[in-house]
Amino acid sequence: MSTRIPAPRLLIVDDELHVRESLSRWFIEDGYEVDAMPDAKEALAALGRRNYDVVITDIKMPGMDGLELQRRIREVNPKAAIVLITAYASVSTAVQALKDGAYDYVTKPFDPEALSRVVAKACERMRLEEENTRLKERLEASTPELVVGKSPAMLKVMSLVEAVAGTDTTVLIRGESGTGKELITRLIHSRSKRCFGPFVAVNCGALPEGVLESELFGHEKGSFTGAAGRHKGKLELADGGTLFLDEIGEISPKVQVELLRTLEDHKITRVGGSQEVPVDFRVICATNKDLEEAVRAGTFREDLYYRINIFTITIPPLRDRPEDILPIAQHFLQRFAQSMGRKVTGFAPEAQELLRRHPWPGNIRELANAVERALVVCREGEVHREHLPITSLSGGGPVEHESANSLPLEEIERRHILRVLDAQGFNISRSARILGIDRVTLYNKIKRYNIERRV
Ligand SMILES: Nc1ncnc2c1ncn2[C@@H]1O[C@H](COP(=O)(O)OP(=O)(O)OP(=O)(O)O)[C@@H](O)[C@H]1O
Ligand SMILES: [Mg+2]
Repeated sequence: MSTRIPAPRLLIVDDELHVRESLSRWFIEDGYEVDAMPDAKEALAALGRRNYDVVITDIKMPGMDGLELQRRIREVNPKAAIVLITAYASVSTAVQALKDGAYDYVTKPFDPEALSRVVAKACERMRLEEENTRLKERLEASTPELVVGKSPAMLKVMSLVEAVAGTDTTVLIRGESGTGKELITRLIHSRSKRCFGPFVAVNCGALPEGVLESELFGHEKGSFTGAAGRHKGKLELADGGTLFLDEIGEISPKVQVELLRTLEDHKITRVGGSQEVPVDFRVICATNKDLEEAVRAGTFREDLYYRINIFTITIPPLRDRPEDILPIAQHFLQRFAQSMGRKVTGFAPEAQELLRRHPWPGNIRELANAVERALVVCREGEVHREHLPITSLSGGGPVEHESANSLPLEEIERRHILRVLDAQGFNISRSARILGIDRVTLYNKIKRYNIERRV
């Protein structure tokens, strides 16, 4: 987490050359980065080009004076601290300037030491303010959304989270698509001692091998065509925080080897580089894949499997914890009603029944989508079954379950495929994975059953 603090930037505005020169020299020696301008117009131009931490300006200057300059700076760069230089006679003006938001003023003839202290204090205040903002942002990022659900299965998950969060143990989160693996990962990070450190997520399934490698480990300038400059990888960016390796089951054998090495010695080597860089992060992995099967099939290294399979949390699918369905649906109803400005109060009994009986192959994500779509069509009052997109999907909701015994096998398959596709937003790869078939097979079935994307 070590970041070099850059030199504070200073802009000096004075119409007298010798003042500009002597102040520049003085502050450069003090370690500041300094620019000096002879009038307000040029100062504003400079402020348009880059940001300054502190602006020191004379009040009395030909053309636009220091006070007007201050007002203009407030508009373009409200964060910059402004220090005014004034002749003794106009102290009352300077006091007014303070009320208008100047940081401080010094009177002429001024003691450079005193000016130096004022500027140093201004920089310190800016640094604290920035740090504050940064901490606030991190706190917000590390406060995850509410995890709803009091089923015994979810209580078990929460107690495992509680037990492991404060440690640096590697965690493996397992569960079907949409069960809340990322949510639980963020919760662990937010309850860990690394909560003020970064949370860095990498979706290992989304990137081709070469890209994933440089995404994880970073690269040195010119290490491959298109590598313009040195680029820090996610492993380095996660230093001091938590690294989330999502869809860990998807990484290629080559990257598996490199990852294993890093997890063992906590060092990385950027692609095209030779220097080893130490890294310090906690690893949380997630997968919806059968890793044991992948190990048996030889596509996932056994040593890496043991390295990540230390503390496993398995999130059960929603259909195995039906008592969570309504509370989670209510939670999303409230959230979407608020963001869409709908006066929807709850679910009518028959809608509740439908929600409870639906198998939710896409789990919480599917449920969230269903509630969101219900609120698009239901503007106020209660959500009824005709508002829920699952009614038509499952061919009449609960009725389908009752009469499933009399349905031809193909019809059951067609309906199941449609449900999964719908839950996954018609994402073919994910749907195929959930259905346990390859994409070509899924395409063929979509064609055969004449399945069309619903809007
Ligand atoms: N128990 C819960 N309470 C409230 N919201 C939840 C709960 N579980 C999951 N969610 C929400 O459901 C959505 C899907 O969860 P998340 O992205 O964590 O699932 P996932 O397991 O990572 O899915 P995938 O395998 O598809 O990546 C998110 O919007 C998440 O906030
Ligand atoms: Mg996820």
